[in-house]
Amino acid sequence: MNNPKESQPKPSLEPKTVAESKTTMTEIVMPNDTNPLGNLMGGNLMRWMDIVSSICAAKHSKSLVVTVSVDNISFNTPIHLGEVVTLHAQITRAFNTSMEIFVEVFAQSLTGENIRKSNQAYFTFVAIDKETGRPKPVPPVIPLTEEEQKRYESALRRRELRLLLSGKLKPNQATEMIEFFKNIS
Ligand SMILES: CC(C)(COP(=O)(O)OP(=O)(O)OC[C@H]1O[C@@H](n2cnc3c(N)ncnc32)[C@H](O)[C@@H]1OP(=O)(O)O)[C@@H](O)C(=O)NCCC(=O)NCCS
Repeated sequence: MNNPKESQPKPSLEPKTVAESKTTMTEIVMPNDTNPLGNLMGGNLMRWMDIVSSICAAKHSKSLVVTVSVDNISFNTPIHLGEVVTLHAQITRAFNTSMEIFVEVFAQSLTGENIRKSNQAYFTFVAIDKETGRPKPVPPVIPLTEEEQKRYESALRRRELRLLLSGKLKPNQATEMIEFFKNIS
């Protein structure tokens, strides 16, 4: 008799476009989301960024995902109580089990005035096999537009940098960064 687990279709690792997993989320800043100045609290914005980017990574990988790292979030403009926050997430590149997601955040008044970019960041997620709890492979990304191709190329350097900073890569193993610095000197 067939083992039911063996006969289940394996998730496809066919390459996917960036557009297939693009994700947008809209929130309104409520009193509970603010700091004592009446502006959106940074931690709440980071939570929304984590949510929108994890949905994007889950769509691309068709898998449960966990956040493994977040790069450099700066807050460029305060976002006020009652304003609308729109978060756009798109995948830049998939590696073996990890995916880099680019998130951009825009703020505007409830009636659509004063639209401004508030911030951006790169999040990295790892796809997790529900049964083993271990990382599992994800489909590659097909970058189509010029912008998608630029982010795809530069993702290698960002990956090396975060692995270096987390102590998972030795400086002499960071070949992309070594090449990059050679070429600008
Ligand atoms: C994510 C996790 C499963 C990775 O486990 P691990 O034993 O380090 O697994 P690996 O060494 O095989 O790394 C898996 C992937 O993560 C990447 N990775 C690990 N640490 C990383 C870091 N600091 N930054 C970026 N990527 C990282 C590796 O490069 C690898 O990617 P690849 O397969 O595409 O090359 C584990 O660290 C974990 O469970 N972390 C907690 C996640 C969590 O709870 N997040 C918050 C709640 S969602």
